[in-house]
Amino acid sequence: MNMKYITIIIKYIFFISILTSLPLTVSSGSSVEDIIKGRKALFSKNYSTAKKVQSYASKGDFENLKSLILEMSENYQNLIAYFPENTKEGFKTEALPAIWENKEDFNNLMIKASNNMIELSAIIESSDDVKGTLTKLMWSNCKACHNKYRVKH
Ligand code: HEC
Repeated sequence: MNMKYITIIIKYIFFISILTSLPLTVSSGSSVEDIIKGRKALFSKNYSTAKKVQSYASKGDFENLKSLILEMSENYQNLIAYFPENTKEGFKTEALPAIWENKEDFNNLMIKASNNMIELSAIIESSDDVKGTLTKLMWSNCKACHNKYRVKH
């Protein structure tokens, strides 16, 4: 089987797992506070993981790299369920109302960020421009989404 089919199959599996995991990640009993604090914690976790990924990759230490990358990918998928309609404000959220006006676009950015991490795990080891690859497949997705959907800093 060539890479193209493998990528399509991986994407399909992830799509199905997103659909089936939604009700599990945020149960309908979760409070607004739990959900907002939960998503902030997941984003912070991804930030510290991203810094670890950058550091391991630039040292050429690929041993722990892949599981960290895939953990980030999974966190992005789970994050999709952390933006229900009733969590637009409160608890110091920095999420902009634009998220709920463009929910499909927002979710697609999350799915793209998740899929790019899977792609990253497949090519990082053989990349001859590690920094450029990390920028393209990891850091650029943070910026693209924050520019539109998070309060400016
Ligand atoms: C598809 C959209 C999206 C992507 C991709 C994304 N973020 Fe965010 N991020 C957000 C939103 C929305 C918030 C605001 C959440 C809130 O305050 O409720 C946020 C908040 C954060 C926070 C603050 C958490 C806190 O404690 O308040 C950090 C740190 C962060 N993101 C880092 C990152 C990094 C690093 C990446 C890339 C590796 C990334 N994000 C990718 C949308 C995104």
